[in-house]
Amino acid sequence: MSPAAPVPAFGSQDLEALERTAVAIVREASALARRRRAEGVRIAATKSAAADIVTAADREVEALIRVRLAELRPGDGFLGEESGAEHGTTGITWVVDPIDGTVNYAYGIPVYSTSIAAVAGDPDPQTWTALVGAVCNPVSGELFRAATGRGAWLQQDADPDAAPLRLHVNDEPGPAGALVATGFGYDPATHAGDLARVERVMPLARDIRRMGSAALDLAFVAAGRLDAYFERGIHPWDHAAGALLVTEAGGVVGGEPGGRPGNTMTIATGPALFDRIATAVQTR
Ligand code: IPD
Repeated sequence: MSPAAPVPAFGSQDLEALERTAVAIVREASALARRRRAEGVRIAATKSAAADIVTAADREVEALIRVRLAELRPGDGFLGEESGAEHGTTGITWVVDPIDGTVNYAYGIPVYSTSIAAVAGDPDPQTWTALVGAVCNPVSGELFRAATGRGAWLQQDADPDAAPLRLHVNDEPGPAGALVATGFGYDPATHAGDLARVERVMPLARDIRRMGSAALDLAFVAAGRLDAYFERGIHPWDHAAGALLVTEAGGVVGGEPGGRPGNTMTIATGPALFDRIATAVQTR
């Protein structure tokens, strides 16, 4: 993996403040997503393919996040799944997926999340430096957060008195093999290649999971609930916060051989497993 760009001069207090902002906004935004889900879901449009949907709630939640960031962090840039990019003046960009797992959301499967990260540098995952990330599933009440150099943590919002739990990835999976999550892009033309990759990974796996929210897949690798995750075709907002959770939990995140996570491939595991998963998914 190529190294991230060096972290600019952010002191620990700056990082703490950024993390608090990410946590406050992800809580408010994911609670709005949950309320709207309870009221009923309206598909507002399709995007890259018939299966790639956007709900009215995706748009409303992203708009709320944008408003809060403009109030709290004027001057920062923004890159969101539903409303695109806006350059800032501070060198920091917020990378936002208002509802990651939109298809689950539309079907009523309680596995979706709001994902918010702040990155330094150009808002390009090949060069940015992730500063903070927060991923919240409002149905389970779990909030995963990380700041660079300060670890990854799980807060149970359902139990505000519980102390945050420090996250650690799993290292070497046991003899039964690795519990591996993946996903499939919305474009049917890519499914044969995705399935071929799953077939090549199977000898390393005790089982496969396809949960439907890349941000939660990454959070679960960070929490040791999965041994590995890989997927082709995900977007910066799907992995910006989750990738930081994994590295702050002691894991490794990469993409194409020697590269960083991105649209062509994202892989996240504990250190011992990375090369084996990477070899399996990249063999053509
Ligand atoms: C999707 C989810 C899914 C992954 C897709 C993503 P969305 O994000 O993360 O798990 O397989 O590639 O696009 O569309 O629900 O925000």
